[in-house]
Amino acid sequence: MADGADAGAKARAWAPASLTLTAGRDKSGRPEAGDVVLRPGEITALLGPTGSGKSRFLSDIESLACGDTPTGRRLLLDGRSPDADERFELQGRLVAQLTQNMNFVLDLSVRDFVLTHALSREAPDPQEAARRVIAAANSLAGEPFDPGVQLTQLSGGQSRALMIADTALLSWSPALLIDEIENAGVDKRRALDLLLASDKIVVIATHDPVLALSADRRLVFEHGAVRMTVVRTGEERDILARLSEMERETTRVRALLRKGEPLS
Ligand SMILES: Nc1ncnc2c1ncn2[C@@H]1O[C@H](COP(=O)(O)OP(=O)(O)O)[C@@H](O)[C@H]1O
Ligand SMILES: [Mg+2]
Repeated sequence: MADGADAGAKARAWAPASLTLTAGRDKSGRPEAGDVVLRPGEITALLGPTGSGKSRFLSDIESLACGDTPTGRRLLLDGRSPDADERFELQGRLVAQLTQNMNFVLDLSVRDFVLTHALSREAPDPQEAARRVIAAANSLAGEPFDPGVQLTQLSGGQSRALMIADTALLSWSPALLIDEIENAGVDKRRALDLLLASDKIVVIATHDPVLALSADRRLVFEHGAVRMTVVRTGEERDILARLSEMERETTRVRALLRKGEPLS
């Protein structure tokens, strides 16, 4: 096998069974509650007021922190610190990221963009892979779009739907970090289901109760550090079902009002 193909196969196959963030310190230098272990197929939500350190926690994962950030945390892969070579190799590969302000600047059609990505990911049937990504994106987006449309013409919601579908179905990154996409104009529940099925480590900083309760557990932040970990209870699942139903109803009424249709 050629070197390039070798590297590709390695990148595809590599997925840690766990990522650990060792306990750091808060903004006053006080020690953090404990280590946090993240595993594939699990959703972890980050909660806490603005400025409490949620985005910093995501950055510590993204940059493979090794005690060199304000929090002093270290990121361990499968329980051990990566050496300098591994860190270099993993820069930009470990995580895919979704943020609120994301728009495309490329002058390409959606179809060509996704197909190019599918080819670079060595998908066995790139055309089919691209078709699936676009179909999934359309099932997440409030307003569907045509595969022939230019990327720059997508709305914010459509762009994020495409990024989520692309990440879930084509990305090699074993971890996905999401920073406050609550008003993203995408179907949140479906997006999470799609991401979960991809068996990635999913970490979401959010103020949205539905997203927070969709997570298996919640890390509560205060003053730059994790203050406590809360595991979702059965009762909270019931509350999630009720909140989701209310949200669906709000969405339905909004759509009718927009079209000037009667609510009854
Ligand atoms: N443990 C810490 N020690 C020092 N500075 C921190 C710590 N945690 C967060 N910060 C800094 O505090 C600021 C607010 O944190 P941020 O992660 O953006 O909060 P949030 O995303 O919860 O609104 C940022 O500048 C961040 O780098
Ligand atoms: Mg933030």
